[in-house]
Amino acid sequence: MIETIDKHRRDFDSRIRSTSAHESLAQLRIDFLGKKGCVQTLMKELRQVAPDEKRQRGKLINDFKRYVENQIKDKQAGLGKSAAAKSPASSNATFDATLPGKREIPGTLHPITQVTEEIKSIFMGLGFQVEEGPEIETDYYNFAALNIPKDHPARDMQDTFYVDGDAVLRTHTSPVQIHVMENSAPPLRIIAPGKVYRRDSDVSHTPMFHQIEGLMVDENVSFSHLKGVMKIFLQEIFGADTQVRFRPSFFPFTCPSAEVDIQCVICGGRGCRVCSQTGWVEILGAGMVNPAVFKLVNYDAEKWTGLAFGLGIERIAMLKYGINDIRLFFENDLRFLKQF
Ligand code: PHE
Repeated sequence: MIETIDKHRRDFDSRIRSTSAHESLAQLRIDFLGKKGCVQTLMKELRQVAPDEKRQRGKLINDFKRYVENQIKDKQAGLGKSAAAKSPASSNATFDATLPGKREIPGTLHPITQVTEEIKSIFMGLGFQVEEGPEIETDYYNFAALNIPKDHPARDMQDTFYVDGDAVLRTHTSPVQIHVMENSAPPLRIIAPGKVYRRDSDVSHTPMFHQIEGLMVDENVSFSHLKGVMKIFLQEIFGADTQVRFRPSFFPFTCPSAEVDIQCVICGGRGCRVCSQTGWVEILGAGMVNPAVFKLVNYDAEKWTGLAFGLGIERIAMLKYGINDIRLFFENDLRFLKQF
């Protein structure tokens, strides 16, 4: 029996040495470890052996079996490695220096993002901090806390996306004013950029657009501060010789309120289609914070005064770059986007 095992071992050694593929290794496994393989045959023969010799012989067979298993395992690992070494990824033989390279084509920031960043940095230079608020608001924050009564046209079903019961998609960034004042004491200076939603769609309206809200609350803030801040901002964005004009207007949450215009940047004030031949284009809404709003957030309206403003980012980008259709911003046409 010992000789038989030795013979099998020699046979196995010579076969595994010449094995260079996974298939022949699999065959080797069948021949030696399979159901009809030689290890099983040795086990069957063991049954006829006398009990006192069984133990010792069984051990020899088991040792041989383990030897075969380990050898096959090692060989398999070796074959795996050399197969990997031959793969094209790690082989210099397949490197073709004449093939054109893969060029990385960097994207650019979306024009709305670029303009937002520019506006933010102007106001940060004036000491304003950047805040954010939710895009889904309750009726209270979007309207009631801003002194917008139930029958105000801004609440009209045609302008507002009502989500569910009390929830609306915010129609402006002004609710951020309320969140900020609820959470911090005056004095404060904040701007709040973000998406807003109105049920509108044509060359100058999209159902989603971007606004930046501004709020400054302190002692003795006056309308002159509002005029100064607006003028500095608009001349930074559109150029130092930009003419700025204030017109009386109405917003429930500011009093007095104003509409701020700049001289038309397209025609230089001579009159064109963009400014409807008036020479001026409306650029933002602003005003002094209505004391009624201060009362709702528990600010002392006798002590504090504030200025607020809200501007449409798309509108500023359109005038800045001479874009005549707001929908271009959101069509993701690379021929448009690549120009910025
Ligand atoms: N929220 C106003 C709008 O969307 C703009 C505004 C903001 C006006 C702040 C005055 C003060 O039209």
